[in-house]
Amino acid sequence: MSGRVEINCIVNEQRRTIHAYPMERLLDVLRTQLQLTGTKEGCGEGECGACTVIIDGRIVNSCLVPIAQVEGTSIKTIEGIAPSETQLHHVQQAFIEHGGAQCGICTPGMIVAAVDLLEKNPHPSEAEIRNGLAGNLCRCTGYMKIFESVVRACER
Ligand code: FES
Ligand code: FES
Repeated sequence: MSGRVEINCIVNEQRRTIHAYPMERLLDVLRTQLQLTGTKEGCGEGECGACTVIIDGRIVNSCLVPIAQVEGTSIKTIEGIAPSETQLHHVQQAFIEHGGAQCGICTPGMIVAAVDLLEKNPHPSEAEIRNGLAGNLCRCTGYMKIFESVVRACER
């Protein structure tokens, strides 16, 4: 369709070609075109972190990213966090074992942010964990369990 552009990028270590309008949100393209529905929409305004993904090693709110900006980048979503189809990431496992998820809307963003934090700082202090998750809001207010899950993940 006229006005659409071709975007080439890597998503979860696979080359993807996307045809979309330049200002379409990365969040929508992930969920509707690539069927990667693990990334959630909370506020849609860059405030809650539910839509967090990693682009070229930096966490971003995908609701604020026009698809034109991801040309040539490497994107990791919650679907790309686990090391294999049969093995969860230790942060995911910790969330299960320590009650880090309630309704689950914030959970993918929390986990992506926690994984990013631990990849950059494998032994964060409690303050660094709080700071690393500061951009992610939980409407169920399960912050203590989320925090405990990340602390436990650090111990693995
Ligand atoms: Fe993107 Fe809330 S949905 S920050
Ligand atoms: Fe419901 Fe966090 S578990 S918003």
